[in-house]
Amino acid sequence: MEFFVDKTDGDTLFKLVLGLVVPRPIGWVSTVSKEGIFNIAPFSFFNAVNDEPPVLMISVSDRDDGTPKDTVRNVLDTGEFVVNLVTEDLFEKMLITGEEFPPEVDEFERAGLTPEPSKLVKAPRIKEAKVSFECRLFKHEKVYDMHLILGEALLINVEEGILDGEYRVDYGKYRVVGRLGGKYYLRVVPEGLLKV
Ligand SMILES: Cc1cc2nc3c(=O)[nH]c(=O)nc-3n(C[C@H](O)[C@H](O)[C@H](O)COP(=O)(O)O)c2cc1C
Repeated sequence: MEFFVDKTDGDTLFKLVLGLVVPRPIGWVSTVSKEGIFNIAPFSFFNAVNDEPPVLMISVSDRDDGTPKDTVRNVLDTGEFVVNLVTEDLFEKMLITGEEFPPEVDEFERAGLTPEPSKLVKAPRIKEAKVSFECRLFKHEKVYDMHLILGEALLINVEEGILDGEYRVDYGKYRVVGRLGGKYYLRVVPEGLLKV
């Protein structure tokens, strides 16, 4: 089948892009508002785009009413955020943080997660996350209706035991979750790995 984009409706394009460009990692972004309220939200339009220094990207739509999501507002107001990675043990909590809550709601409390002070940015890390990147806003661009946010990582926090002596990741211990289309997700587990 061929889909000419200019003749394809938005719902179909959404299903095709989200269902075919898989698996996508999930950037679980913690921020703090100007008023000091903590926020967390997951984004699967997420990846790394540079390693030295590390630069990560997320791409965020506006809400249906045209207002920016809390994550975008907080990142633009403070210039800082933390990208935490989602492992299998935190999957259900991540889903809770994907629901739309008003800005005054602290999503750490809602999801039963613990904010831990970051070392270099004001936004807190998620204590339960095995990996987190403390980021400073590098660039904000609009890509059509999306906010493309690039963050330069200043500090990478990795839980003890995940890396071996040569900083290789043990995927038996780092059971990270990826997003597929629709309601599907997957775990990165040793049995699923293809090795070269
Ligand atoms: C696994 C997952 C991935 C998501 N990926 C994105 C995404 O890439 N971009 C986006 O705008 N929203 C995405 N969402 C929806 C946001 O997480 C959701 O709109 C959230 O409520 C935004 O929260 P905020 O207003 O606190 O920033 C995703 C939701 C889930 C559960």
